[in-house]
Amino acid sequence: MHLVREIGVLKKIIRQYKKKGVIIGFVPTMGYLHEGHLSLVRIAKKKSQFVVVSIFVNPTQFGPREDLQEYPRALKKDLSLLRREDVDLVFYPTVKTMYPTDYKTYVEVQDLGKVLCGISRPSHFRGVTTVVLKLFNIVEPDIAVFGEKDYQQLIIINRMVKDFNLNVKIFGGMIIREKDGLAMSSRNIYLNQRQRRDAVVLYQSLQWIKHAFKNGLFNTSKAIEEIEKMISKRGGKIDYIEAVDKNTLKSVEILKKGTLVTLAVYFGKTRLIDNIVL
Ligand code: PAJ
Repeated sequence: MHLVREIGVLKKIIRQYKKKGVIIGFVPTMGYLHEGHLSLVRIAKKKSQFVVVSIFVNPTQFGPREDLQEYPRALKKDLSLLRREDVDLVFYPTVKTMYPTDYKTYVEVQDLGKVLCGISRPSHFRGVTTVVLKLFNIVEPDIAVFGEKDYQQLIIINRMVKDFNLNVKIFGGMIIREKDGLAMSSRNIYLNQRQRRDAVVLYQSLQWIKHAFKNGLFNTSKAIEEIEKMISKRGGKIDYIEAVDKNTLKSVEILKKGTLVTLAVYFGKTRLIDNIVL
């Protein structure tokens, strides 16, 4: 497994493989890896012949009062997990490498980044698209894999790829969950025992809505009111719960097959997200 910190070194290695016609797969991450990340690596392995994983806690996607400093890091363990998955190259640049002091350029996908998570995290997706475009230009992957756990992120990346005519095919990976249903997340480590137990209500409420929909509940506000109650009872502080069109992210009044029900909820200071497509 190549371990690379320098952009020039990475480009040199990738060019050698590309010259031979090798298909390059890419999974960008912020590290502190779990089975969710590894599931994306396995998809990339199936779809390509040389898999690159990046580990970079991207400062531009964190707001001024967010958890950039505390964001969990475990590079040694991450590398051993990736070695076990037979990853070909890990790129883990420094902040200075990605954003030198004279750095000036940002990429923003309009509208899609301003709803849902974009309301409480106004510059978040600008940071995501900027770093992902940079990583795409550095790695030049043929395919890249993103998790449906961050559904809005996946939609926004797809939009950027289309709008900028990027030569990369995007694949989505389904949400990987803990045994009790909580969506795996690097941020779950912040939860205390009580919050960890309560947080399972997010999955339970999404399952509830799925079943209610199957049994004929189509009224969005009624359905959302019900799961707001469930979540509040377990101490969750709701940032948003919305039912939206899964392509446009526009709110829908009537639940339909294919509607995305998506939420962000705080347990203590920890903001968790989850979603389900009906
Ligand atoms: P990070 O939160 O580390 O997630 C990296 C990738 O793993 C994302 O595509 C995310 O959707 C996916 N992922 C996280 N938890 C998952 C789960 N439980 N099941 C399936 N996939 C899961 O998302 C980011 O980093 C950053 O925004 C990044 C794209 C790397 C840009 O900085």
